[in-house]
Amino acid sequence: GNGHVDKRGALIVLEGLDRCGKTTQCSRLVSFLEGKGLPVEAWRFPDRSTNIGKIISSYLTDNSQLDDQTVHLLFSANRWEKRWLMENKLRNGTTLVVDRYSYSGVSFSAAKGLDIEWCKAPEQGLIAPDIVVYLDIFPEEAAKRGGYGIERYEQLEFQGKVAHCYKILCNSSWKVLF
Ligand code: TYD
Repeated sequence: GNGHVDKRGALIVLEGLDRCGKTTQCSRLVSFLEGKGLPVEAWRFPDRSTNIGKIISSYLTDNSQLDDQTVHLLFSANRWEKRWLMENKLRNGTTLVVDRYSYSGVSFSAAKGLDIEWCKAPEQGLIAPDIVVYLDIFPEEAAKRGGYGIERYEQLEFQGKVAHCYKILCNSSWKVLF
């Protein structure tokens, strides 16, 4: 009540394969926190609204040719360009529920065969999440859910490799939900 915001918001990240249900769970979580009267916003990466996000979006949806390293750095840059706004929101007490973050960045690129340590490097210095929730689903199960769309990565074999990379990144601080 004295006008100072002395409670930082939480950075909550949801991760998982395509079609794992992240988007639904993110909006449920946002509604739940709103219901508690907490200031909260739903975010997602890639943020397709920026210039970099538009390049990513066309890469995902059409056949634009970009090499894997370049795409990796664009996804990372898309998080960097939002870093300062993210920091301000958190500092002002807003909790952010984020659909995908650095772990998607590393897992999807490493699944293409890029060196995992190289993939992690540009993520250094982004704001670390307070909580990572991983929605664990078999790729075969995800593929059945409404079918994959037309986006580049929505293929069973590739999703299996992504799942493997997530398992490498996963540590005991993650909340794994089945
Ligand atoms: P997203 O917009 O979450 O997918 P959807 O269209 O299913 O809601 O993400 C698009 C794709 O981009 C998804 O297959 C995961 C991939 N991705 C990366 O390869 N690197 C990243 O850094 C991020 C955030 C996503």
